[in-house]
Amino acid sequence: MAEEAILGFLQNNEQITDSGQFSAEFNLDHNEVVNVIKSLHGFRYIDVQDIKKETWVLTDEGKKYAAEGSPEVQLFLAVPEEGSISKDELQKKLAPSVFKIGCSQAGKNKWVEMGKQVSRKVKHVEDKVKGQLLQIQEGKESDKDSINSLKARKLIVPQIWKGYSVKKGPNYAPERKKVATDLTRENLQNWKELEFKEYNFEAKGAPLEAGHLHALLKVRKQFKDIFVQMGFEEMPTNNFVESSFWNFDALFQPQQHPARDSHDTFFLKVPSTTRTLPEDYVERVKRVHESGGYGSRGYNYDWKREEANKNLLRTHTTAVSSRMLYALAQKPFVPKKYFSIDRVFRNEAVDRTHLAEFHQIEGLICDRGLTLGDLIGVLKDFFSRLGMSKLRFKPAYNPYTEPSMEIFSYHEGLGKWVEIGNSGMFRPEMLLPMGLPEDVRVIAWGLSLERPTMILYGIDNIRDLFGHKVDLDLIKRNPICRIGI
Ligand code: PHE
Repeated sequence: MAEEAILGFLQNNEQITDSGQFSAEFNLDHNEVVNVIKSLHGFRYIDVQDIKKETWVLTDEGKKYAAEGSPEVQLFLAVPEEGSISKDELQKKLAPSVFKIGCSQAGKNKWVEMGKQVSRKVKHVEDKVKGQLLQIQEGKESDKDSINSLKARKLIVPQIWKGYSVKKGPNYAPERKKVATDLTRENLQNWKELEFKEYNFEAKGAPLEAGHLHALLKVRKQFKDIFVQMGFEEMPTNNFVESSFWNFDALFQPQQHPARDSHDTFFLKVPSTTRTLPEDYVERVKRVHESGGYGSRGYNYDWKREEANKNLLRTHTTAVSSRMLYALAQKPFVPKKYFSIDRVFRNEAVDRTHLAEFHQIEGLICDRGLTLGDLIGVLKDFFSRLGMSKLRFKPAYNPYTEPSMEIFSYHEGLGKWVEIGNSGMFRPEMLLPMGLPEDVRVIAWGLSLERPTMILYGIDNIRDLFGHKVDLDLIKRNPICRIGI
């Protein structure tokens, strides 16, 4: 509609002097006219020039007076034609702001005599202010003086109006030609009859979709920062393939333990066994499993080297910790704080809360004389940095820790205690065969990265977070989440 009107008008007229007037004349919406002008200008059907006008619009107070009359007239009308009214009586008849402004303006205009008693000084008054306001409201021109006085009384404010004047452009035609914009098979077949849209080399390209971090990576970074702030060093975790020895045996996990079943663990076919293990240490591990030592009775079974040699996808990052602690034990002892955040694998049925691969966060402190109290203190410090300050601990069992504790945190949003991790003190049967000094204790804890990430991002199905079903929008749109579970 607007397009036909503009192109049609220019066919017989030199120019449209003002898009605002033009819209009013042809009963068109000015915004729509402006959009069409911009589009026609883009295709050079028309040439345009900007018009900017300062216009005035009524403030809320101005609108009120335009409807109800100015306060001075309202006040004047409230004073009786003959005789007088007490000021208190008059005040009761009017709204407080109307009374206040009315008194001062009607006094200034010499319309009323103000004292304890108020009386009229003139017979008739004209509501000029209301008249001026209505004129502006209807978009009519006003004289300078009324504009200035209304402006001073804050009844009107300036507004910039933008419009255009329009002339024919180099590509002017009374009707817009439909140009082909795509190289389709049909368009190529009719190319002689068609006019193709010119390339616009000035156009902005589509923004490149790059550099988005997955939610897990963002939360991982926040955990990493917390560990670093607490003085922890990161352990190298770049081996998904591990031997059963470091994943289980070194951790005093017996070879008949159900976790070692292929239902729970992915074993490798090629290469199916590890090439090297530290032989003297293997010997000590075998002995502690079979007959104990270091104050332990052991498990009393035949420990098999073939079982320890089997390669697997590591089932927990505690395998990394066992390698690191062994390495530490080979040198004169220094206390250490280590952490890791990386992927682990379990041969589990996938459902909304379980994946066959996920990420573990693991922290450990190794020093002389550490106690369970130290572990609880460190956990409180660590988790309070995540916004979790209400913690509870429940006795648990791990083959490699004694005592062991599950960690629960009160989730304000869910209104209940949720399990957030597992922890414990590594057993002497694990630490002493490594060669660590006898009074060295290791406190450690582990949790998954997925669980806090799901809570933070409000995801209730783990398959929406990780794996082939993930919606890329999750990665593109999610902001960095402040931790605070
Ligand atoms: N490895 C344990 C797990 O897989 C976590 C853990 C780490 C427990 C360190 C105690 C000490 O859940």
